[in-house]
Amino acid sequence: MFRAPCNRAPAIVFGVIIFGALFFGPWPAERLAADVEKTYVGAKACEECHEEEYEHYEKFAKKAHSYSHIKTMKKGLTEAEFRSCFECHTTGYGQPGGFKSEQETPDLKNAGCETCHGPGSVHVETQDPEDIKASLTDEECGRCHNSERVKAFGYKPLIYGGAH
Ligand code: HEC
Ligand code: HEC
Ligand code: HEC
Ligand code: HEC
Repeated sequence: MFRAPCNRAPAIVFGVIIFGALFFGPWPAERLAADVEKTYVGAKACEECHEEEYEHYEKFAKKAHSYSHIKTMKKGLTEAEFRSCFECHTTGYGQPGGFKSEQETPDLKNAGCETCHGPGSVHVETQDPEDIKASLTDEECGRCHNSERVKAFGYKPLIYGGAH
């Protein structure tokens, strides 16, 4: 008679495991899958829903022409030196789904929206603000606008900085 509660112990343990698996299990896996799937789509793919940002970017941002700027200097450079420009002057170079070459990935040849907002493939599908990076810090700009270049060009970029 006193043993009755003890007999339930396996059932309780089993219940806790199932509950735990259902409650905690799917979430990290789902999030991981979403991260893995995120690839680059290029600035043009943002136009239909963010027309204003896109137009401002195309009109005013030097990033919208960053590939032509390195291309005009290509003549004096070795192939390796030219490739070293891609990291900052193109979109997602060296990352999954990022820029490879002008021929293979023409939509990613300039430093597009996703250089700041991160890969947009999932957001383009879901339209969920959660799937795209919106708030940025100076450090993230500093990845390309490093101190050497800030000195060379004589100013420090400000957040928003003429992007749109
Ligand atoms: C099919 C429509 C659609 C496309 C394509 C799209 N977006 Fe969005 N985006 C939305 C909607 C809807 C929102 C949420 C409402 C809003 O803020 O306008 C949003 C919000 C955002 C935000 C703000 C997020 C926040 O937390 O406030 C950013 C940044 C953004 N989009 C960037 C992009 C970029 C970069 C691209 C291209 C890679 C893109 N979007 C393509 C529909 C789209
Ligand atoms: C992936 C590298 C990269 C990142 C990250 C980056 N930039 Fe840039 N940015 C560039 C390049 C390359 C140029 C020069 C393009 C050219 O003229 O060829 C540039 C140009 C600029 C300019 C010059 C003015 C203009 O018309 O575009 C400003 C201002 C600027 N960036 C601000 C920012 C800010 C603010 C951030 C962070 C929110 C940022 N950038 C992040 C690569 C980057
Ligand atoms: C570490 C990131 C980075 C690398 C690598 C890089 N650049 Fe840049 N480049 C920038 C940034 C940032 C700017 C914008 C500076 C500004 O306006 O403050 C810029 C601006 C320029 C400009 C001026 C464009 C204009 O007319 O406004 C030229 C030209 C240029 N880079 C060529 C090159 C070449 C060629 C290479 C490769 C040999 C290269 N860059 C490699 C970050 C980089
Ligand atoms: C130089 C970096 C940079 C580039 C390139 C860039 N953005 Fe942004 N974007 C920002 C910053 C910074 C914000 C402001 C986030 C905040 O409010 O804190 C922003 C905000 C936004 C928002 C939210 C609404 C708003 O205006 O505040 C949308 C939508 C957006 N960007 C779309 C785009 C699209 C589309 C492109 C390409 C055509 C693009 N962005 C290119 C830096 C950038």
